[in-house]
Amino acid sequence: MKSQATASAPAKVILFGEHFVVYGNPAILASIDRRITVRAKTAEHDKVFIKSDIAEGEFSGATVKGSENAEAVLRPLYSAVRQVLLEKKHERGLEIEVRSDIPHGIGLGSSAASCVATVAATCLLFEQPDRQAVCERAVEAERLIHKNSSGADCYISTFGGLIYYSKSEGFSKIRSGAEMYIVIADTGIKHSTGDLVSSVKSLKERNEQEFSRWTEQARSICGRARSAIEAGDIRQMGALMNENQVLLSKIGVSHDVADRLIEIAIKNGALGAKVTGAGGGGAIIALALDKDSRSAIAGRIKEAGYNAFEARIDYDGLILG
Ligand code: PMV
Repeated sequence: MKSQATASAPAKVILFGEHFVVYGNPAILASIDRRITVRAKTAEHDKVFIKSDIAEGEFSGATVKGSENAEAVLRPLYSAVRQVLLEKKHERGLEIEVRSDIPHGIGLGSSAASCVATVAATCLLFEQPDRQAVCERAVEAERLIHKNSSGADCYISTFGGLIYYSKSEGFSKIRSGAEMYIVIADTGIKHSTGDLVSSVKSLKERNEQEFSRWTEQARSICGRARSAIEAGDIRQMGALMNENQVLLSKIGVSHDVADRLIEIAIKNGALGAKVTGAGGGGAIIALALDKDSRSAIAGRIKEAGYNAFEARIDYDGLILG
């Protein structure tokens, strides 16, 4: 057994199809080059101590001591670690350090990435883990946060790249025919995915016919987006992002600040821009033509007083060691 091990896992964006995916539609996700790195160290005591940028806690069975948010934020990580320790019949504790450069709570998949990296670093203390097994265990841990999680965030964080996902067909990789120059901007407004999913559900129940028309449109956008990505047709991708954003506004998950950031991006040359993830604040994603345009867009958004960063698609997924 090693005395320490490190693993890192990337953030994600939803390029197309959020919300409608809940009702069986496809979605397209990509992992991006922002990561969470986890270091696991063996300990002489029998507790599991977890420290992240936003919480810290010392876990021993059902008991936790530490910051106020330790239970909510770190329990899933603890439960994943504990399972591995039980399986390996390891009776001593561990120290887990989580470092993140993924903004938290705006739909960029930080909780999934932390689950993937924590499971992987813990397994790595004992043996070289299999990625699929890490992913499955991370999904179980993440379900303690998002009960009905599709598992897509953990999947993309483990395997990297771009995926096309639907509940009935599962995951398939998409090969991009061109580099994507992406800007992510943060509205500064934290969202609750659960609340937004519920509000869309009640809208759907009030407007079944209209909602089913939008669902068909969202399905068509995803299909055309997949072809555009494969063909490397980034102008078409941008146009489809704009089309997708119209639907997200109709279902009430955009936000004034998101609309403002999207407008700044488009005015400054973005080929397309939309809310990414649950919305109601959170983050937006903009697609630029090239590197220079990407930095110009990010620069303008920062000048307007918001956090923005330039991103690339990450093809590594989980990195061990
Ligand atoms: O903001 P996020 O990353 O939690 O995205 C949620 C995506 C939804 O489609 C709104 C919900 C879901 O479970 O797919």
